[in-house]
Amino acid sequence: MTGKIAIVSGAARGIGRAIALELASRGARLALCDLIDPAETAAAIGPETISAQLDVSDRGALEAFFASLPRVDILVNNAGMSIRKPLVELEVADVERVWQVLLWGAFHTTQLAARRMIAQGEGGAIVNVTSVLAHIPYVNSSPYNGAKAAVNQMTRTWALELAPHRIRANALEPGWTDTPGERAFNTEQQLRAGGERLPLGRLARAEEIAKAAAFLASDDASYITGTVLQVDGGVTLIE
Ligand SMILES: NC(=O)c1ccc[n+]([C@@H]2O[C@H](COP(=O)([O-])OP(=O)(O)OC[C@H]3O[C@@H](n4cnc5c(N)ncnc54)[C@H](O)[C@@H]3O)[C@@H](O)[C@H]2O)c1
Repeated sequence: MTGKIAIVSGAARGIGRAIALELASRGARLALCDLIDPAETAAAIGPETISAQLDVSDRGALEAFFASLPRVDILVNNAGMSIRKPLVELEVADVERVWQVLLWGAFHTTQLAARRMIAQGEGGAIVNVTSVLAHIPYVNSSPYNGAKAAVNQMTRTWALELAPHRIRANALEPGWTDTPGERAFNTEQQLRAGGERLPLGRLARAEEIAKAAAFLASDDASYITGTVLQVDGGVTLIE
């Protein structure tokens, strides 16, 4: 990936941080963004790394970020969050926020990256991080589950639209992964007990998701577009 610039959203921690480190290990120059300052991830990679603190639902902030980059070759749209409540308790503002981040965040970043890649005329790779909850009706998570399913289908549609420009677009569905975000919802005991019920007997490590994201972003996946890759320890086989 030497000479390529890769954007990773939500890169301050968790899966996004691991993806940024994995892409950097393959030679890409990283452009990181996150709602919380991704400076620590940037420092772990090196001084060439570009980083910005922004909200992926803020179109203006994203346009300024993209304009500051010399070029764009890879986009990993990873930023995400959830508000977990049953249907009858959800506030409209809860649903709007989840959809702003997951749906509008994916739309804005993918559109800005695609426009830039088309103008460059050298192809590109887009990876949208979705979730196995696009298929599994995990309760109290309906805005998130629906948004992830929508991003899968938008990604497939964008893949077809962008194929003439040699821009590949794929979705990556992590299963249950040990990250700060998941630790906010679960105790250590819940994570261990939940992991034991999975076919591979444990949660994913962020680095395992990152290797799959880097594969889809790399030339090793040069003939793969419009796919939805599950990296889930087999959870979708039993749910
Ligand atoms: N951990 C899991 O079990 C799991 C499973 C399936 C899918 N995912 C998906 O993987 C991605 C990463 O999740 P994670 O577990 O590493 O979560 P995390 O909460 O540990 O990290 C997510 C990062 O995204 C950032 N972010 C959130 N909202 C943002 C916004 N509006 N703009 C910019 N950045 C924003 C956060 O600040 C954080 O640094 C998400 O899209 C999530 O839905 C996670």
